[in-house]
Amino acid sequence: MPLEARVVVLLLHLVAMLFMAAPLYALITVNERARFAVPPNYNTDRYLENVIKRQPIRCYAYLAVILVTGILLTWARGWIWTDWALITKLVAFTALTWLLSYVHFGIQPNIERIMDRCNPGEEISAKDKPTLLAWRSRRKRLAGICLFLVLTSLIMGVRVTWGYAPWLAAVFTVAAALFAWRVYRNPVRFGWF
Ligand code: HEM
Repeated sequence: MPLEARVVVLLLHLVAMLFMAAPLYALITVNERARFAVPPNYNTDRYLENVIKRQPIRCYAYLAVILVTGILLTWARGWIWTDWALITKLVAFTALTWLLSYVHFGIQPNIERIMDRCNPGEEISAKDKPTLLAWRSRRKRLAGICLFLVLTSLIMGVRVTWGYAPWLAAVFTVAAALFAWRVYRNPVRFGWF
């Protein structure tokens, strides 16, 4: 593949990867919501849910570009399918797609059913609140895992390109897990912590 074509493919791969930062911002947003002394009203919640519920469609579009450009990059490197870092990327990519589909088709419809039972301006009923909270907590946990998987794919992508020491890849992966945990627990007001 000519160098310029390869650079275009790589840039598309990286831009789509950048747009996969959604779990980071979704976690920051829901952690900010949790800091309200009085829970936000229905309209605020509906607005937030509208943004969250449409995100998987955007992520599918980014993942499609990542997959097609990833296959082209693998071809450009001489079909290096046995590279362990690339295999790790493929596993992380599959897990991401699976988790995204579970959130979109499994969790979100349950949240929407509860939200739809509530009229604008009203509060969620006391009976529905624990169920809503349980579904949201599960979605939040999965967002933390997705963030970790995106970071792992990134670390492994750089490993595919540069072939650095496996121990360093392990150190980065542990750091990615710690960061994902931190973002899951805290709105990371200073970016890194
Ligand atoms: C969410 C998933 C993914 C993310 C975040 C991601 C991210 C990255 C990053 C950051 C690089 C390093 C680029 C550089 O150092 O210049 C890279 C390279 C690469 N990625 Fe991905 N990637 C993902 C999925 C995939 C998939 C599914 C494939 C294969 C089907 C793939 C194949 C490659 C290849 C072959 C390279 C090396 C490119 C080169 O140096 O020529 N990636 N990726």
